[in-house]
Amino acid sequence: MKKLKKNSSKIFVWSYLEGYKKNKKNILDIVDRVFESGNLILSKEVSNFEKNFATFTNNSYGIGVNSGTDALQIALMSIGVKKDDEIITVSNTAVPTVSAIVSCNARPIFVDINKDDYLINTALIEEQINKKTKAIIPVNLYGQSANYDEIKKISKKYNLKIIEDCAQSSGALYKKKPSGSFGDLSAFSFYPTKNLGGYGDGGMIVTKNYKYAQLSMKLRKYGMSKLYYSEKHGINSRLDEVHAAILNFQLTKLKSNIIKRRKIAKIYNENLKKNNLILPIENKNNYHSYYAYVVRHPQRSRIINYLLKNNIFCNISYPFPIHSMKGYTNFIKKRNDLKVTEKLSKEIFSLPIYPELTSEKLEKVIKIINKF
Ligand SMILES: Cc1ncc(COP(=O)(O)O)c(C=O)c1O
Repeated sequence: MKKLKKNSSKIFVWSYLEGYKKNKKNILDIVDRVFESGNLILSKEVSNFEKNFATFTNNSYGIGVNSGTDALQIALMSIGVKKDDEIITVSNTAVPTVSAIVSCNARPIFVDINKDDYLINTALIEEQINKKTKAIIPVNLYGQSANYDEIKKISKKYNLKIIEDCAQSSGALYKKKPSGSFGDLSAFSFYPTKNLGGYGDGGMIVTKNYKYAQLSMKLRKYGMSKLYYSEKHGINSRLDEVHAAILNFQLTKLKSNIIKRRKIAKIYNENLKKNNLILPIENKNNYHSYYAYVVRHPQRSRIINYLLKNNIFCNISYPFPIHSMKGYTNFIKKRNDLKVTEKLSKEIFSLPIYPELTSEKLEKVIKIINKF
């Protein structure tokens, strides 16, 4: 009890506990229903969720897997990525965007990002394309889609595949079309912090292409399409029934939760504009889902420490661009000019945002920042 009280004065950048309290009965009923069903892995709940989520993203097929990382890797394997193929992406992203490429023995080629929306700078993509280039992975970072008009044009011109990294963009729109509807395949994460977050790990590949769907389905199960017989080297990446059933329930709340996130973002925008933080922008073609509310300031650590002293917890995504990490430098063939990425990694940080963030807590964050 004491611990709960102590925690209630803290403002976390994200929390699932309030959402769980609100939906506890529904969730526990779902858990019980699944446990009583006699099926725990890749059964009816998974296929229901696959159908619903494929429809939600304007796709024909959904393939539930164990994580967003696996969704990316299987998507890459499904388009036939092989050793030394080059995949164009960004360095300002979560490690898994790039670890999935490296797991396929391919090479990440980094392109710099825009300085206003922090997304892939499409004007810099063409100069990186050569015979080895196989695909582009645009990352819909922080809940906002990349510029798919341009990306589609380029992919068509050079016959490249697009794999959308939608780990952070469930429910976002680009030109009124859902995130995940622009790629040949798109990869989603249902990690608990995500807009469509589960109660454990989970991910999904969505596609309109029958051949890719069939292949992804095999690859998530050791390359098997019949029991105990592998037709192609694959991996083990299954989605659990209990997670799929809870995610199906969470999906019914996704749109309203994004409206709540957007309201919080609007309140931040209106009340923080007078100080010298650089606030996030919503591009004119986008419906931002505000997975994260990312601001910029050259004195980031001073602000974060000051907020921490006031029990407000921020996040930095991401403090280290992938190309600067020891774990990845060996896989980088050419160190492109990534000035914007590097500068931003020293300045960006995220303020608390999640659907159940109370107006009282939100006001406190704003008041403390404005006092700084
Ligand atoms: C941009 C991005 N890509 C991929 C992933 C991987 O998702 P997961 O954590 O479910 O493997 C994440 C999540 O951390 C992410 O933020």
